[in-house]
Amino acid sequence: MYRYIGNKTKLTHEILNDVKKIIGSKGTVADIMCGTASVSLALKNEGYNVIASDIMTYSYYHAIVNLLIDEQPDFAKLTQKESLLKSVPRELRYEAVIDLLNTLEPIEGYFFKEFSPEGKPANGEAPRMYFTSKNAKKIDSIIKKINEWDAENLINEKELALIKHDVILSVNPVANISGTYGHFHSNIVKSALDNFVLEPSYKQNLFSQQNNAGDHTVYKGYAEELASIIKADLCYIDPPYMKRQYAANYHILETIARGDEPEAAGVSGLRPWRDQYSNFCSKVKIRDSFRQIFSKMDCPNFLISYSEDGLLSADELIELFSEFGEVSLRKFTYKRFRSNKSKLKNEINEYLFWVRKKS
Ligand SMILES: C[S@@+](CC[C@H](N)C(=O)[O-])C[C@H]1O[C@@H](n2cnc3c(N)ncnc32)[C@H](O)[C@@H]1O
Repeated sequence: MYRYIGNKTKLTHEILNDVKKIIGSKGTVADIMCGTASVSLALKNEGYNVIASDIMTYSYYHAIVNLLIDEQPDFAKLTQKESLLKSVPRELRYEAVIDLLNTLEPIEGYFFKEFSPEGKPANGEAPRMYFTSKNAKKIDSIIKKINEWDAENLINEKELALIKHDVILSVNPVANISGTYGHFHSNIVKSALDNFVLEPSYKQNLFSQQNNAGDHTVYKGYAEELASIIKADLCYIDPPYMKRQYAANYHILETIARGDEPEAAGVSGLRPWRDQYSNFCSKVKIRDSFRQIFSKMDCPNFLISYSEDGLLSADELIELFSEFGEVSLRKFTYKRFRSNKSKLKNEINEYLFWVRKKS
């Protein structure tokens, strides 16, 4: 499973249960902080129309893959250009694209320089150990090739999203980290020694296993801003609940998604991330952001996930949400994702608030 703080893959049944109780089995549901897009996918498979968004570029790609790709893309333009793909039947084309990327000559590029033990970071910091040098070189060659295809317009947005989605899912298991990209281990751990191999998560038949009906939309941006253009029967909100910004914790995934080479700052090599700062990580700003979403969105029901050790207590949230309508709270116990070094306890209370907006 994708190790992402707050990933709700294991809780989708709880969320779907409440959605169904509130709006029945049909309608439009917005998932405006969609992260890995696991809830979006579950909603789609259940037959809802889904509107997904997030501030992070990688989330945008995960949501495109989970909501908008119904069948294996045909890579038509790329096939005209890359001779290796020409004789491959359409149903095997994506795997052939992955093979092509996996067999590129490794290069010493940005990931090698900034994120591997043999690299020399531009800011003069000691080499960073996010990946083995061998894996970093392979990641570099793959990102370079994808950037070339994108610059030459040889792949469309869905094809780009699918490849980036798979690069991210394949990179995570060989990253030398304890859960997030906030820090790297000072020695290379065993799992990071494995060779990085790009895996096609979408093999031939997987698309047909999903419920592909429905009308879905994906945006990238701040929920506070998108709220005014979203109309839904229910809006699911799964905000960050701690101070640490996602843009800092997952900076390397964002760099893979964007395919750029930003200045890597400090010991950890963070990309500039102020443009993806979340007010939900600030006790001072969180209330105003919730207010903006509730007041701007054309939506009668809000379902909000929160954790017992979040920045605001359940009572504080109830007080805030009550400004907008009737609030009910359901609590359940949840075995959470923890980074390996975390001292946090394993089981916590997870909250689901339902706010029925006053008209
Ligand atoms: C708890 S995670 C969501 C996890 C998601 N439900 C899943 O299952 O993967 C919170 C997400 O909120 C996003 N986020 C934070 N502030 C935001 C904002 N103001 N607007 C939109 N997305 C935001 C973060 O980038 C992060 O992906």
